[in-house]
Amino acid sequence: MERVVIAAVFLLLFSCQPSEAGRVVVRRPPPTLARRQRHYTSPRAGGDGGGGVSVPPAVQYETRWYTQRLDHFNSAPASYATFQQRYLVNDTFWGGPTAPIFLYAGNEGDVDLFTNNTGFMWESAPRFRALLVFVEHRYYGESMPFGGTRAAAFRDARTKGYLTVTQALADYASFVLSLKANLSAPAAPVVVFGGSYGGMLAAWMRLKYPHIVMGAVASSAPILSFYGIVDPYAFYDRITDDFKSESKHCYDVLRKSWDVLDDALATKEGQAQLRRTFTMCNGSSVQDIPSLLESAVVYAAMTDYPTPSGFLTPLPAYPVRAMCRAIDASRAESAEASSGAANDGNSNSTAQLTLSQVRDAMDVYYNHTGAAACFRAEEDDDPHGMYDGWNWQACTEVMVMAYGIRDGGVLQPSPFNFTDVVDSCRNYTGLPPRPFWIETEFGGFDIGNVLKKSASNIVFFNGLRDPWSTGGVLKSISDSIIALVEPKGSHHVDLRFSSKEDPEWLKQVRVKETRIIARWLKQYYSDEGIAA
Ligand SMILES: *[C@@H]1O[C@H](CO)[C@@H](O)[C@H](O)[C@H]1NC(C)=O
Ligand SMILES: *[C@@H]1O[C@H](CO)[C@@H](O)[C@H](O)[C@H]1NC(C)=O
Ligand SMILES: *[C@@H]1O[C@H](CO)[C@@H](O)[C@H](O)[C@H]1NC(C)=O
Ligand SMILES: *[C@@H]1O[C@H](CO)[C@@H](O)[C@H](O)[C@H]1NC(C)=O
Ligand SMILES: *[C@@H]1O[C@H](CO)[C@@H](O)[C@H](O)[C@H]1NC(C)=O
Ligand SMILES: *[C@@H]1O[C@H](CO)[C@@H](O)[C@H](O)[C@H]1NC(C)=O
Ligand SMILES: *[C@@H]1O[C@H](CO)[C@@H](O)[C@H](O)[C@H]1NC(C)=O
Ligand SMILES: *[C@@H]1O[C@H](CO)[C@@H](O)[C@H](O)[C@H]1NC(C)=O
Repeated sequence: MERVVIAAVFLLLFSCQPSEAGRVVVRRPPPTLARRQRHYTSPRAGGDGGGGVSVPPAVQYETRWYTQRLDHFNSAPASYATFQQRYLVNDTFWGGPTAPIFLYAGNEGDVDLFTNNTGFMWESAPRFRALLVFVEHRYYGESMPFGGTRAAAFRDARTKGYLTVTQALADYASFVLSLKANLSAPAAPVVVFGGSYGGMLAAWMRLKYPHIVMGAVASSAPILSFYGIVDPYAFYDRITDDFKSESKHCYDVLRKSWDVLDDALATKEGQAQLRRTFTMCNGSSVQDIPSLLESAVVYAAMTDYPTPSGFLTPLPAYPVRAMCRAIDASRAESAEASSGAANDGNSNSTAQLTLSQVRDAMDVYYNHTGAAACFRAEEDDDPHGMYDGWNWQACTEVMVMAYGIRDGGVLQPSPFNFTDVVDSCRNYTGLPPRPFWIETEFGGFDIGNVLKKSASNIVFFNGLRDPWSTGGVLKSISDSIIALVEPKGSHHVDLRFSSKEDPEWLKQVRVKETRIIARWLKQYYSDEGIAA
């Protein structure tokens, strides 16, 4: 039994099966917003702060706990069990009982990761005299049901079964009411914020609990990335476009690199060549290179921020461009060297060139600080506690359809097959997946017409560089359901701390969001007859 489960985990994370042509077909996990942070061994002293990488200003908050109900939706005795839900508060700016509460809807990781990276809330709180509250999602961070340990919460399907979107939203709703009661602030307007999966939660919370949150800022929320609504190839198509837009040569190198890697991995000499080219850490092998390259390509596209960042891993500004520059630069170098390359006995210089180019691109992503002594496979590292929960969610209900990879893309082609996705998820969880549940619960089809008549007060931000924008709401729906779309934007870039180097378009996005929130609040106070 143990064996089967472990095999299933790897199947989901990175499933390789020989296909007709003997090539390796890779089935990808749905990428999460938040990937493992460290992919390398580095001296502790290097840290995230080194190498000129900007880190968020130190944020300060109090940690508190709320006794949360395990199951909001039935009255069977087991439902009355409780767990401790963590939340972080800063009340320094709060203007008192009718001033707004800014609530961050925690997503798939330690809540402090999002707290520390959601600068937009910190920077706008003084202006709105808002209370800042960041609530942790159940089954992540320290908010573990069944006694508080991860091992107990993730013991089996009977314990994991309470990890659902509807439970998480009901947690947030109960939490807000309790918080307001304790603050004696029943009339305080609540604006909910979130990025990525948190953005989906923010939007859905406004749809389902409009009496509890009066507006939602849903950043990079792919609420339309579900089967039958989204093109399952769109996610990876966008990543290809991102790299192509930097340079045709860069795109060509990446596209061809998969065959070169496959060929090299297939022979002893090739593997030796890979070992010479890529310094792999002990415990990792050259077999890990394709998945490392794939992650670098995917997450560079997602976090293609205009300024240096340290959200998932320390990165330079515009990492997609930086990776392409690295690839293009080694073309120039090797053109000079190629005349002399003939004396290198067996090595195939075309293949060797491609491998060095790919290595240089990986170096940009994994070694921006220069502190990475070697490349390390990711499987063993989950510092923000995301994968247990996200893999479960992505295979039970939050089945975002970001799987298909066309021929001619910057990643190894992988035809989309819905039956296979459902089967591999069933293999992983041991339960029938529910790919249509999210659409049933929250809608998605014909969203414009539906929300026009049934909803209000949501901002959807999307940056078109971000592959997740392919599942986002890109057109405004009404005067109060507004899509902000930025061609140069990336994954919830609007929520990040501002910096002096921010481009003008990004400053404008934040100005617009601030104005929209101000408008909602003005309307709220007028409707409620509260003197603002
Ligand atoms: C809230 O944040 C502000 C600005 O970061 C900080 O000055 C203040 O001390 C914090 N308050 C609490 C109670 O942590
Ligand atoms: C968030 O910031 C706090 C205080 O600045 C720090 O103690 C904590 O380690 C940070 N958490 C993460 C995940 O970066
Ligand atoms: C509100 O106060 C009650 C009673 O002290 C406490 O049990 C509950 O956790 C508090 N709610 C929040 C959100 O902290
Ligand atoms: C890897 O293991 C070898 C043999 O145990 C050791 O000599 C070497 O220092 C290790 N390298 C790293 C980077 O830890
Ligand atoms: C060198 O590698 C390239 C790409 O893998 C391949 O197309 C070519 O046939 C190889 N040439 C030799 C001489 O092995
Ligand atoms: C990381 O960068 C440093 C400095 O450029 C270099 O010495 C080191 O070899 C690089 N690490 C890897 C794995 O390439
Ligand atoms: C999808 O995969 C299943 C099982 O692997 C196979 O039977 C089916 O023909 C595939 N469908 C398509 C459209 O390729
Ligand atoms: C699921 O597991 C079954 C039985 O082990 C296996 O035959 C099948 O190929 C798996 N399906 C997928 C899509 O991985």
